[in-house]
This record gives sequence, C-alpha cells and structure tokens, in this order.
Amino acid sequence: MDSRNDIINTEQESIATSMDCEDVELVEYLPYILQDFHEIGSSAQSLTKIVKENNTKETVKIIDLGCGKGAVLIELAQHVKSECLGIDGIKEFIDYANEQARMRGIINCKFQVGDIRKTDKIEGKYNFIILGSIGTVYGDYYTTMERLKPLLCDDSIIILDDGYIEENKDFNHVKIGTKKDLISQIKTSDMEIVKEYLGDEISDNSEYEKQYQDIKKRCHELILKYPNKKELFEGYIRKQEEEYHNLEEEITCSTMLIKRKVA
Ligand SMILES: C[S@@+](CC[C@H](N)C(=O)[O-])C[C@H]1O[C@@H](n2cnc3c(N)ncnc32)[C@H](O)[C@@H]1O
Repeated sequence: MDSRNDIINTEQESIATSMDCEDVELVEYLPYILQDFHEIGSSAQSLTKIVKENNTKETVKIIDLGCGKGAVLIELAQHVKSECLGIDGIKEFIDYANEQARMRGIINCKFQVGDIRKTDKIEGKYNFIILGSIGTVYGDYYTTMERLKPLLCDDSIIILDDGYIEENKDFNHVKIGTKKDLISQIKTSDMEIVKEYLGDEISDNSEYEKQYQDIKKRCHELILKYPNKKELFEGYIRKQEEEYHNLEEEITCSTMLIKRKVA
C-alpha cells in the first residue's frame, strides 16, 4: 500500500504529519516555534500569480485547505476579485490570519478553525481549491481527489503545491512519492494535471537557512523553559534540518493545476 495512505487517526496526528513532527506532543508548541513565520509552506506571491493567470471568472470562490497562518489567501484576496475561505486545525494560526485580514481591511476573506478531512462539513463549491504543502492529510492523490470532488464545479482547478521524487533519484521518503505514481493516482480519479509550475517559478529557497535558524532559536528557548522536553525539541530541530536538506537536494517542488478530465 502507498505509505501516503497509512491511517492517520486524529486531527492532531494529521497536523503533526503535515508539519513534519515525529511526536504529536510537539503540535501544541508549533504556534510558539513558528511565531517568526508568516508563510509556513507555500509562496503567497507565486500562488497569487498562478490564480491570476488561470482565472476566467469575474469573481472567484477560493478555498485554502490547511491554510496555516493565512498568508496565501491574504495575498490573493487583495489582488483577485474573490470570496475566500481558509481552514486550519491550529486555532492560534487562524487567530493570526483573522487579525492580519482585519488589519489590512480585507473583507472578502474568512478564516475558520476546523478539521479539513471533514469535507462533508464544508458548504458550497469552489473555483479554486488550494492544497499548499499539506502533504498526506487525505492519503494518496487518488483519495485526495475523491475527497475533494464534492467541492468542485465542472471547471474548478485544484492547486496542488507539493513535491515529488524524480524517477532517476535513488531516494525514498515516507510522505513523498514519485512523479509517475502521482500522475497515475490522479488519473485513476478521472482528473488530470493541466499545467505545472516548477522550481524557480514557484519556490524561493533563499529563505531556508533563515527559517531553519528561527526554528532552532525558538526550540532552544523552549528547552530552557521545559528542560524535561529537551529531546522533543531537539528531535524537531533535527527533523527540520533533514527536511530543508531534502527540499534543496532530493525533492522537486512543484505546483500542479488539476482539473476534471474532459470526456
Ligand atoms: C506545512 S503547513 C502549510 C500551511 C499553508 N498551506 C501554507 O502553505 O502556508 C500544513 C498546515 O496544514 C494544517 N493541517 C494539517 N492537517 C490538518 C487537518 N486535518 N485539519 C486542519 N488543518 C490541518 C496544519 O495545521 C498546518 O497549518
């Protein structure tokens, strides 16, 4: 079985996996550790450019599932005539996103706390569905597509900002598969990749070192405060170092536009 389909039982486990936490206990400390971040995965500027390039509607409905601190929608809502909804499981992230929207006078963007796996609880249909660096929250890409179908209009676009491993790489990752598997899982769901943006077009890795240092600094502060949890925070630092290395050396970062297959 695809390891992307390993059962993730609780919302906390789902959040932990998406944030590369090996221990669920770390989740409650994420708002502290990531306090220096506005974007925590995808590039708000790149995704805004991509929506602008591919939008054909006068007013567009956009949902960002696992929106983090809301950076992507806050940028989008200011540059595209839209109604936006962002959902994330971390309350502190949503509070931050709502506060940012309020400070900028943005009224076309709402953020709410929720478990994004419960798609049956999400009302309405959306022209764009953003999945920004959320990893395996829904399982493999077949399962992901099937879960999202009730939220799609006929010509909706799913923006999948993720990564894959090129076929020629001798590298394995529990959460990231090969491009071939990704394409075949999406096809099995009667969906297709209609466009792909790669590398420099979408990702800015010049910030990786600073981000890693910020994470390290905040974890060391937590170690001073909670010395009995030293191993938990040191484990997170090690994991982040590994993941930043993988992003630079092993994984192809890609933003894929996915639509229903035309019969
Ligand atoms: C790596 S972050 C990406 C955040 C954002 N999309 C971005 O690119 O800035 C993954 C996000 O998914 C959220 N998440 C993971 N599983 C979730 C779930 N089941 N329900 C709600 N949010 C979830 C996490 O809380 C986290 O904010």
